[in-house]
Amino acid sequence: MATADAIPIEFPRRQPGRLTPPAEYAGLRSQEGLVKSSLPGGSTVWLVTRHEDVRSVLTDPRISSNPLHEGFPSMGKNGTVPPPDQVPGWFVAYDPPEHGRFRKALIPEFTVRRIKEMQPAIQRIVDRLIDALLDGGNSADLVAQFALPVPSLVICELLGVPYSDHEYFESRTRVLVTFTSTDEQRESAAKELITYLTKLISIKHKFPGNDLISGLLKNETLTAQEVSGIALLLLIAGHETTANNIALGVVMLLLNREWIGDPRAVEEALRYLSVADRVALRVAVEDVEIGGQLIKAGEGIVPLGAAANHDENAFERADQFDPGRPARHHVAFGYGVHQCLGQHLVRAEMGTAYRTLFERIPTLRLAVPPEELPFKDEGILFGLHELPVTW
Ligand code: HEM
Repeated sequence: MATADAIPIEFPRRQPGRLTPPAEYAGLRSQEGLVKSSLPGGSTVWLVTRHEDVRSVLTDPRISSNPLHEGFPSMGKNGTVPPPDQVPGWFVAYDPPEHGRFRKALIPEFTVRRIKEMQPAIQRIVDRLIDALLDGGNSADLVAQFALPVPSLVICELLGVPYSDHEYFESRTRVLVTFTSTDEQRESAAKELITYLTKLISIKHKFPGNDLISGLLKNETLTAQEVSGIALLLLIAGHETTANNIALGVVMLLLNREWIGDPRAVEEALRYLSVADRVALRVAVEDVEIGGQLIKAGEGIVPLGAAANHDENAFERADQFDPGRPARHHVAFGYGVHQCLGQHLVRAEMGTAYRTLFERIPTLRLAVPPEELPFKDEGILFGLHELPVTW
């Protein structure tokens, strides 16, 4: 077992203009034990890159999701526990058994059956946005005009949040998922969102609707304050991640046109792109061995989803985009008790978006060379600032 204290390497970044994960990941996967890396806030963490090891980290009860534990990885600039991680109801930061109470209350809202019921609404949203694209001429920015509004409109409909406020919550979410935001900026973005949702919840208390927030308010196992934390988590988790996957997945299909129309492209795009590479942060609360490496209690861990999803031991020719492969064991949605609650919804949104877009605009193509696309990699999520297309 490797125990020696390693010299931290710089946190690996994606190469500009490339859709594959950081080049360093391959070297890290083949190395004995794990590697330490320094984070923007100055703390050091263990990087986990092998598929098997990432799944071990995400299922080991000696490893916690609670950022209040000493040594939890801080992606914030100042290295402190960033909001909204301390908000009641922000259950992605809770460990079992407390976490289970929230998961139990929410699972019925995100089952395959429930998402199927939402399918006509998703189709209507996608169709209207494509109508507007076609009415607007023969070119567009597909991020602003399609990839972002699809999940924003869907999450608004699901939660019962007015879409007219989308710029308000989208801009504040961007602050929360960007490394370069200061803790002060993050704190005020989180506070503004909480104030906004608290007001919305007090209205829903008096005038309940047929939406998820109104439903949760009737659940006696949850307080109103917790419902507001849950709503915040769903609102933040529900749009930027999916928007990045829709936009980058369109790029993958435009670069691999033979797969247009194949529904299996959704799962492969999730694996290949792994936009939430550094989302699942952890800390060891007891000494634990992962991948032949001793991790001591109080040491931070970053399981890298994109590294695991490009591990040749789990996916042959992993750097090739091949929707024909079995890809379902990817960890783009995490693994274990915190595995993404919204995954069936994401698949429905991505599938509807790709199918309808290419059926209705078969001549769609990039308006700039792929290497000139403005990739977004300055935060916890991988994505595109813009996607100029023409048809
Ligand atoms: C958790 C990825 C979209 C709601 C997670 C986790 C990942 C992830 C990696 C695990 C975090 C951890 O273990 O600490 C993604 C990706 C998405 C996406 C790649 C889009 C492509 C969504 C959507 C929603 C959502 C649309 C809701 C509408 C959640 C929630 C959790 C979560 C509530 C926390 C679950 C828990 O702690 O039990 N997601 N997500 N996500 N996601 Fe997603």
